[in-house]
Amino acid sequence: MSARILPANEESIALAAAILRRGGLVAFPTETVYGLGADAANDTAVAAIFSVKQRPGFNPLIIHVRDLAHAHSLAAFNAKALSLAEVLWPGPLTLVLPRKPAAQVSLLASAGLDTIGLRVPADSIARRLLETSRLAIAAPSANRSGKVSSTRADHVAQSLGEGVELILDGGAASLGIESTIVGFDGLRPALLRPGALPRKRIEDLIGRIDEPAGDQILSPGRLRMHYAPRTRLRLEATTLEAGEALLAFGSTGPLAARATRNLSPSENLSEAAANLFCMLRELDAMTCPCIAVMPVPMHGLGEAINDRLRRAAERDD
Ligand code: TXA
Ligand code: MG
Repeated sequence: MSARILPANEESIALAAAILRRGGLVAFPTETVYGLGADAANDTAVAAIFSVKQRPGFNPLIIHVRDLAHAHSLAAFNAKALSLAEVLWPGPLTLVLPRKPAAQVSLLASAGLDTIGLRVPADSIARRLLETSRLAIAAPSANRSGKVSSTRADHVAQSLGEGVELILDGGAASLGIESTIVGFDGLRPALLRPGALPRKRIEDLIGRIDEPAGDQILSPGRLRMHYAPRTRLRLEATTLEAGEALLAFGSTGPLAARATRNLSPSENLSEAAANLFCMLRELDAMTCPCIAVMPVPMHGLGEAINDRLRRAAERDD
């Protein structure tokens, strides 16, 4: 069974909601990346996500909810989590919080943990789907496990074709990089995954946040090989070797002029984030021996971009 792609509108969103309610899988756009959604309360539907993604069973899924009230029914908010949610939701922020005992969410979706990752997306199609279905929607990024995230409907079809009943096409995801994940070690906030929401927006509200201490709080999104394309990556490139493709950033200097793709000629980090997965995919498809990547600065969204690049570059062979 291969997926049907429909432009997102009232009618296709109503169809998507009906598919979700009867336990089927639907891929839908969010402002970060496309999600592969299932009714979060339905164990069988959630299990289908793992099999379609070929994802290791221990990886918990993000639960998408329509608003803060819905989130309150599933998880216990501390004061810092609440101030983040009140200001930054809807938006590209996932909060990992203690799960309420009565939460109507499959234990498989949170991989048996006593916490739950929650997010209220800002994208209008995602919001409409949450409103129409009235469900909490478990949705990891809509790509095969270990491959780059999908930022367009046709990426989803290529990556996951089989097993998805419907792909809602809302065009290119506007941010193009996954949500920032914040968890808590007791009451101490920790950055579990840098993402589309820059760290500074969070620290401005609740003060300094730490990297998680060791494996204390587990976010398998930090697994090394998580974002690997097939082609080798050479980071911080200041030269170009024979046969390499060049993923450039900016347009100063002689190297940028030889770009195969340019994340952002004007050094705009939002533009670079939005282009990242799409360009990695295109360069990977060229089957050259190596992709050289020019340095990307570490400020703002650069932290998340560098994190994804580092993980795409790390491989065992
Ligand atoms: O932008 C996004 O976050 C996208 C869109 C679709 O919302 N979703 C996404 O989901 O990136 P996924 O499954 O590819 O990555 C979610 C990460 C996983 O690495 C998972 O380990 C972590 O969130 N996560 C979810 N629930 C967690 C929990 N209870 N404790 C620790 N980590 C959790
Ligand atoms: Mg993912």
